[in-house]
Amino acid sequence: MLFRSTSAAQAALLFLSVAAPQSALAALYTSPEAAFSHVSRTTYDYVIVGAGAAGGVLANRLTENSSIKVLLLEAGSSDYNNTNIEIPWLAPVLTGSTFDWNYTTTPQVGMNDRSIGYARGKVLGGSTSINYMIYTRGAKDDYDRWASVTGDSGWNWNNMFTYLKKLENFTNSPNVQNASLKFSSNLHSTSGPVGAGLPQVSLPIDQIALNAQQELSSEFPFNQDVNSGDMIGFSWTPFAIQNGARSNSARDYIQPALSRSNLDVIVGAQVTKVVKTSSQGGVPVVRGVQYTSGPNKYVYSVQASKEVILSAGAIGSPQILLLSGIGPKAQCTSHGISSLVDLPDVGQNMQDHPLLTTNYKVSSDDTLDNLGSDPELAAQQLALWQNSRVGDFTLGACNQWAWGRLPSNDSIFKAVSDPSSGSTAPHYQLIFSDLYIAFGGGSLPTGNFLTLISNLYTPVSRGNLTLKSTNPFDYPIINPGLLSDEGGFDIHTMREALKAGRRFLQAPAWDSWIVSEYGDSANAKTDEQIEDFIRANALVVNHVSGTVGMGKKGTTAQGSGALNPDLTVKGTIGLRVVDASAFPFVPAAHTMIPTYALAERAADLIKAAHSH
Ligand SMILES: Cc1cc2nc3c(=O)[nH]c(=O)nc-3n(C[C@H](O)[C@H](O)[C@H](O)COP(=O)(O)OP(=O)(O)OC[C@H]3O[C@@H](n4cnc5c(N)ncnc54)[C@H](O)[C@@H]3O)c2cc1C
Ligand SMILES: *[C@@H]1O[C@H](CO)[C@@H](O)[C@H](O)[C@H]1NC(C)=O
Ligand SMILES: *[C@@H]1O[C@H](CO)[C@@H](O)[C@H](O)[C@H]1NC(C)=O
Ligand SMILES: *[C@@H]1O[C@H](CO)[C@@H](O)[C@H](O)[C@H]1NC(C)=O
Ligand SMILES: *[C@@H]1O[C@H](CO)[C@@H](O)[C@H](O)[C@H]1NC(C)=O
Ligand SMILES: *[C@@H]1O[C@H](CO)[C@@H](O)[C@H](O)[C@H]1NC(C)=O
Ligand SMILES: *[C@@H]1O[C@H](CO)[C@@H](O)[C@H](O)[C@H]1NC(C)=O
Ligand SMILES: *[C@@H]1O[C@H](CO)[C@@H](O)[C@H](O)[C@H]1NC(C)=O
Repeated sequence: MLFRSTSAAQAALLFLSVAAPQSALAALYTSPEAAFSHVSRTTYDYVIVGAGAAGGVLANRLTENSSIKVLLLEAGSSDYNNTNIEIPWLAPVLTGSTFDWNYTTTPQVGMNDRSIGYARGKVLGGSTSINYMIYTRGAKDDYDRWASVTGDSGWNWNNMFTYLKKLENFTNSPNVQNASLKFSSNLHSTSGPVGAGLPQVSLPIDQIALNAQQELSSEFPFNQDVNSGDMIGFSWTPFAIQNGARSNSARDYIQPALSRSNLDVIVGAQVTKVVKTSSQGGVPVVRGVQYTSGPNKYVYSVQASKEVILSAGAIGSPQILLLSGIGPKAQCTSHGISSLVDLPDVGQNMQDHPLLTTNYKVSSDDTLDNLGSDPELAAQQLALWQNSRVGDFTLGACNQWAWGRLPSNDSIFKAVSDPSSGSTAPHYQLIFSDLYIAFGGGSLPTGNFLTLISNLYTPVSRGNLTLKSTNPFDYPIINPGLLSDEGGFDIHTMREALKAGRRFLQAPAWDSWIVSEYGDSANAKTDEQIEDFIRANALVVNHVSGTVGMGKKGTTAQGSGALNPDLTVKGTIGLRVVDASAFPFVPAAHTMIPTYALAERAADLIKAAHSH
């Protein structure tokens, strides 16, 4: 390992630590300072940056071989056992908490110049520790498109299906009626690390929604398993929840690997850049990493003997590359950073899924709103959770949903070619939630509600991430470009999604439940009014992807991808990016499981690359 000591005190510390006995145990260090003496005398094969979805997978899989030594660096804390993280129902309190980086976007031109909160997890587990735990693999066509865009058939559905099964422990919930009809067991595995299943508690609206589905079955066909590769239709919602508690990469991948002597984890360690350590045939070898516990704190260096792997997520990974001079040359040099590799696609191709909530007043007094309005009920449900991991606190945002496509004769396709990957991929999602939800905050109305969440899943809009300054603690400039595409596909499809959701909720089955649409959206009737409402109110599902996208091998020209199909950074040796940054197209799905699957395959690619 390489140690760059900049002070006499540090040099003295290094000298002392070299004489100390070698520890044989894996360890979780709470700061770079606490780890210093151990790290300074250890040689690591791999240094992984970021302990989120992808970083957790890699830390586990790469240490399966006991002769491989891995260092995992995470900027956040180790507090993944925090109750707010563990209890599924409390997921909303994690956004804007100490476990959230609290990014915000630039004013979004497609959303009336509003800047919106852009959550990302900052704790062991990364965003898997603060997300809404929804468990979707994505569509067959989405993986097949990755394969065709990269020229690597290993990314296709058939091959990735192996990893999608390898990662999961999908068990049916014991507490729901008719459970066997709710997913296809032949598509699933029970031997992987990520605990998942269907909702544990049946809600009164479940049967009403099933009846509505049957009434409108030509538009909303029943889909027994949204994770079969074909997502279209009405289905039950799977979650990364096991025995009533959140599954995340900290609990499922990192914690089990901590019993191995060949993994070291340092939390509170923010990576500031990667550094060139040598060159081979004129190509920079980038096996050095610098990290620190905070602004104006000592900057430590470590070197991997095999690879440095960035898994800092679709905000963190491009920021680190840009700070290191790996990215668009003009941008790097404009900040006085000397360009190491001119890689135009770093920070480009940013994609996310816009989200809209609309609310409905219902006649029932038995909805999940009561958990918010009745402290006694909430206390009772919390006790149930604490004592036996059952009850309403095991639930996520919905039990059921529908995924739909625009009809092929939709007028938009005269002007815009279909951005979806194919017929198995939905253009939009409709979530039916048994309570009032408004992600933007504001005061909660009293009473009982249903919320329709209608979201776009095949955005044409692309945004970008650029450096604000060379200070690694300054957040980068984040512009996801939401609803900004020139052809207007995104706003059109958001509008059509909302209308599809309204059609579903107008099925006769809802007559005894829904009173009326509630709030400002109720006045949005014409297409124009609906679009205005969307631009004024849309938020985001938090699936930021694509900012260091993979493409075909070799060329670094703009638009051809920043990564090779094996996720190595183009124009470098010894450096990979493995996380949601690498998606060339965001899947038409929630992105945690696609990220896990990408990282599972990456682990095999990395092992194979060093098996000689
Ligand atoms: C509020 C919210 C709700 C979501 N809901 C869902 C959902 O219900 N279902 C779903 O499938 N997906 C959901 N997602 C998305 C999903 O969680 C992410 O797509 C997925 O976690 C991405 O994995 P990743 O490995 O790319 O990044 P992350 O999981 O974000 O991990 C990146 C890690 O790197 C660390 N890091 C960043 N920069 C540095 C640095 N410089 N030095 C050291 N460490 C660093 C971060 O702290 C973090 O731990 C949600 C996300 C959010 C934020
Ligand atoms: C484990 O890693 C060592 C060192 O790289 C390698 O020689 C060995 O083949 C690996 N073992 C397996 C089972 O892959
Ligand atoms: C989290 O809890 C598990 C099980 O209770 C325990 O084994 C583990 O050490 C805890 N991790 C941390 C970082 O506290
Ligand atoms: C995010 O903001 C909240 C509320 O201001 C704050 O408590 C929390 O510490 C912030 N998170 C981080 C990582 O700074
Ligand atoms: C299971 O559900 C199906 C379809 O909703 C229904 O026809 C069947 O009667 C149910 N079976 C049981 C045992 O409840
Ligand atoms: C899978 O989950 C079930 C139910 O939670 C559990 O009993 C089982 O041990 C898990 N299997 C693995 C391989 O973790
Ligand atoms: C699309 O086709 C359906 C019938 O399949 C028809 O009802 C509808 O009006 C058509 N829409 C347009 C925009 O042509
Ligand atoms: C980022 O996107 C904005 C808005 O489209 C654009 O003005 C800007 O030039 C882009 N920046 C880079 C570096 O691509």
